Amino acid sequence: MNLLVTAGPTRERLDPVRYLSNRSTGKMGFAVAAAGAAAGHSTTLIAGPVALRTPPGVRRLNVESAADMEEAVRAEFPRCDALVMAAAVADWRPSRPADHKLKKHPGRWTVEMERTVDILEQLKPVKGSRLIVGFAAETQHLLEEATRKRRDKDLDLIVGNDIAEPGSGFGVDTNRVVLVGRDDSPEWWPLLPKADVARRLIQRVEALLHAS
Ligand code: CTP
Repeated sequence: MNLLVTAGPTRERLDPVRYLSNRSTGKMGFAVAAAGAAAGHSTTLIAGPVALRTPPGVRRLNVESAADMEEAVRAEFPRCDALVMAAAVADWRPSRPADHKLKKHPGRWTVEMERTVDILEQLKPVKGSRLIVGFAAETQHLLEEATRKRRDKDLDLIVGNDIAEPGSGFGVDTNRVVLVGRDDSPEWWPLLPKADVARRLIQRVEALLHAS
């Protein structure tokens, strides 16, 4: 299959030297891309700014902001059979990024933010028979939130993980996830190395594509 994976955070510019971002390190998405390529799939990885090596056999496209990521996903999506959207895309960005470095001044600084585009929402009309897998990183109500997001974004599968749980989430090499598919019945996986979660996820994607 042609597999498209996104990974890492996005950076939203405040001025030429400052940005807003999040704690994603890209490990889960890179593991998915690595597992996809290792299983013989033609794999493209759209990566936000992260300090990780490109896995063997993976075609990597680097992006910075949510807008850049959206443009790259839109361009690559028509050629893929399955998209795994593991990136932690910013939901907000500064409304008026400055062209020059902002100088300090006395008192407070208020930054006005505007919404970024929801990449998965944008894909709904062009989805066709492609398979789409989303991720949901939560600190509370994991199953409810994952189930809601899968429905709202019309995903074939969502991978939820509780980022407040030890050994799960940002920066660590393990993850404990719950999968929710179109039948809405949750499947909890044990705490596993991210590489194993990725391998199992690729097998699930293969099976779902095969069945469709
Ligand atoms: N996502 C996306 N575009 C965005 C934000 C998120 O495509 N602008 C994708 C993520 O890559 C992930 C899924 O949507 O696969 C869920 O992301 P998450 O940030 O957990 O959900 P949100 O829709 O942002 O919901 P909330 O802010 O309510 O948690």
